[in-house]
Amino acid sequence: MGNLLVTGGAGFIGSNFVHHVVRNTDHTVTVLDKLTYAGKRASLAGLPAGRVKLVVGDICDAELVDGLFADADAVVHYAAESHNDNSLHDPRPFLDTNIVGTYTLLEAARKHQRRIHHISTDEVYGDLELDDPDRFTESTPYNPSSPYSSTKAGSDLLVRAWVRSFGVQATISNCSNNYGPYQHVEKFIPRQITNVIRGIRPKLYGKGENVRDWIHADDHSSAVLTILERGTIGDTYLIGADGERDNKGVVELILELMGESREAYDHVRDRAGHDMRYAIDSAKIRTELGWAPVYADFESGLAATIDWYRTHEDWWSESKDGVEAFYATKGQ
Ligand code: NAD
Ligand code: TYD
Repeated sequence: MGNLLVTGGAGFIGSNFVHHVVRNTDHTVTVLDKLTYAGKRASLAGLPAGRVKLVVGDICDAELVDGLFADADAVVHYAAESHNDNSLHDPRPFLDTNIVGTYTLLEAARKHQRRIHHISTDEVYGDLELDDPDRFTESTPYNPSSPYSSTKAGSDLLVRAWVRSFGVQATISNCSNNYGPYQHVEKFIPRQITNVIRGIRPKLYGKGENVRDWIHADDHSSAVLTILERGTIGDTYLIGADGERDNKGVVELILELMGESREAYDHVRDRAGHDMRYAIDSAKIRTELGWAPVYADFESGLAATIDWYRTHEDWWSESKDGVEAFYATKGQ
C-alpha cells in the first residue's frame, strides 16, 4: 500500500491506528487533521518523523484534499465530530465535517481512483432493548437517534452511493464503543478515570442501565488494517469484541481498580434520547477475513487504560476543567 492518508489521525482512534500501523507494517502515514478541540499533536509524539507526517487542515477543503489524495496509495477516514453530547448542544459542525467532509473525500477518491476505507459506528443502527436476544449485523436497518449518529449514517450512505454510482473503491466498518489511551476526557471512561484522579466523584447518566459493547482501540485498528488488506470492495464490516457491560458496572469497576469504594459516584441528569443498548455480532469479519480481537479481557484492558491516564496527566489536564465546566451547565 505504501503511503496511507489517515484523516482524523490526531484524534483518539485515528492516533491509535497510526501507532498500530507504525508498529506492525512498513507503510508511511500522512495524517490530515484539523486539530479541533479533539485532536492533539501530542497523540502522535514519539512516532518516527520519516514515517509519519501531520498536515493540519480541514477535510472539507477540496483543494488540500485533492493534493493529498494524489500522493496517497490508500485512505483511511476517521475524521469526524464524534461526541453525542456535543451534537445535542450544537449539531452544525457534525453536518459540516461528517457529511460535507466525507463527500469531499469521496469526490477526491473518485477523481484519483483511490481505495478508501470509511470508519463508522454501530450507533447508525439505533439501539436495542436490554432483553433483546438480537445484536446488530451488517443487514440491520439504519435507525440513528442523535445528530451525531444520523450524520454518521448519512456519511455511510454517501459512501455506498459513490461505490454504486461511480465505482469508488470503498469499504465501510461500523465499530462499537472504543476504550484505550488518547481518548478525550469528554468521553465516558476517561471522564470517570480523570474524575477519580482529580478527586471528583464519577458521573453516571440516569440509572446507568445503558449497555455499551466495549472494544480496545488497538483491536479496532487491527480490524481496519485487515479490511484494508483483505476486505471486499463495496462491503460493510461490523467490528466488535463481545464486550457488553452496563454503565453502572463500568463505573463501579473503575472505582474498584482505582482503590475507591464502588459506591463513590453520583447519578446525574440523563442524556436526551439516550440509546439503551448497543451490541455487535462480528461474525462476518471473523469468518470471512479471519480477524479476532486480542484484548479479550476488558478488566485488564481497563486497568492498563487507568495506568495510562495516571501517567499521562500532561496529555489530558489542559482539557479537563473546560469539559467539566461544560457538563456542569447541563447538570451532568
Ligand atoms: P475524536 O473526536 O477523538 O477524533 C476526531 C479527530 O478528527 C480529531 O483529531 C479532530 O481534530 C479531527 N477532525 C474533526 N473535524 C475535522 C475536519 N473537519 N477536518 C479534519 N480533521 C477533523 O474521535 P474518535 O473517537 O477517535 O472517532 C474517530 C472515528 O471513529 C469517527 O469517525 C467516529 O465516528 C468513529 N467511531 C468512534 C467510536 C468511539 O467509541 N469513539 C466507535 C466507533 C466509531
Ligand atoms: P460516550 O463515551 O459519550 O459514548 P456513546 O455516547 O457514543 O456511547 O458514553 C458512553 C455511555 O456512558 C453512554 O451510555 C452515556 C454514558 N455516560 C455517562 O453515564 N456519564 C458520562 O459522564 C458520560 C460522558 C457518558
